[in-house]
Amino acid sequence: MKRILGLVASQRKRANSEMLLKEAALAAGDECQLELMRLAEWRLAPCRGCYTCLIPGKTCTIGDDLYPLVEKIKEADGIILAAPCYAFGPAAVTKLFGDRIIALTQHLDDFWDKPCVIIATTGKEGWEGYTLAALVVMTRNLGLALKDSCMFMGSLPGESVLMDGALERVRLLGSRLFGEARLPVQGECPTCWSDIWKFPEPGLAVCPLCGQRAELVVTEEGVNLNYGLASTRHKKVELMHHNQELQAKVKEFLSRRNELEVIRNAYKGGGNWLKP
Ligand SMILES: Cc1cc2nc3c(=O)[nH]c(=O)nc-3n(C[C@H](O)[C@H](O)[C@H](O)COP(=O)(O)O)c2cc1C
Repeated sequence: MKRILGLVASQRKRANSEMLLKEAALAAGDECQLELMRLAEWRLAPCRGCYTCLIPGKTCTIGDDLYPLVEKIKEADGIILAAPCYAFGPAAVTKLFGDRIIALTQHLDDFWDKPCVIIATTGKEGWEGYTLAALVVMTRNLGLALKDSCMFMGSLPGESVLMDGALERVRLLGSRLFGEARLPVQGECPTCWSDIWKFPEPGLAVCPLCGQRAELVVTEEGVNLNYGLASTRHKKVELMHHNQELQAKVKEFLSRRNELEVIRNAYKGGGNWLKP
């Protein structure tokens, strides 16, 4: 019996994200048990940026539902994340969770290579913005093994399953959770699958999420992207290394605290803070 954890980022009940997630879970295999979490029902506060979780032996000080959620992820054999597009990005609750990345890195060993698929839903063709890219990088940051990701159309609750090919596609996505990962598709970064590129200088494209670089080459057929070496940003060793860099920053802060305090104190006044 495999345990699937379904994370639903929509508050609409029996709507597009939830329905597609349930279809994907059914397609994941006969011997699967689905547990669901509606993320907005769990208390997830914004990261305070205090870096306490970087100090060996310490954890996040917030005391919300982060760690119960972590436990659920640990227990699961596979994760299905389903999130609607709001204002061109994923619904904010996904970011609230993803922003706790430093505390979550403590669990990299438990999360590492745990299968995951992503379902995104959007109401208007071409208005999906950076939704998929944001979800993809969040799962990569957590060390999950991303097997498939797809954007589904549907504005009204329930409409998404009526769209041409949607059920077929979401079932394929579900079947991949414990199967082979799909290959990157046209336009996606071949390393992390983000569909967003930056062009910092002529002839160069850079994936802003994993740092993958590509040379732009004009051919008779159009512009080709010639990829360099695969980016290693989301390899375990790199993620751990970044964590160590941050730990070093905490030590640096402690040793430079007094000097920085003098600089910061100069900004003590200069405005009235409004409170809710
Ligand atoms: C506050 C809000 C913002 C939205 N913003 C977008 C948007 O920027 N682009 C888009 O294509 N759809 C947008 N939508 C539509 C939803 O992405 C779409 O209806 C989705 O299928 C909802 O998923 P659900 O049924 O699981 O809640 C928005 C919906 C809401 C409620």
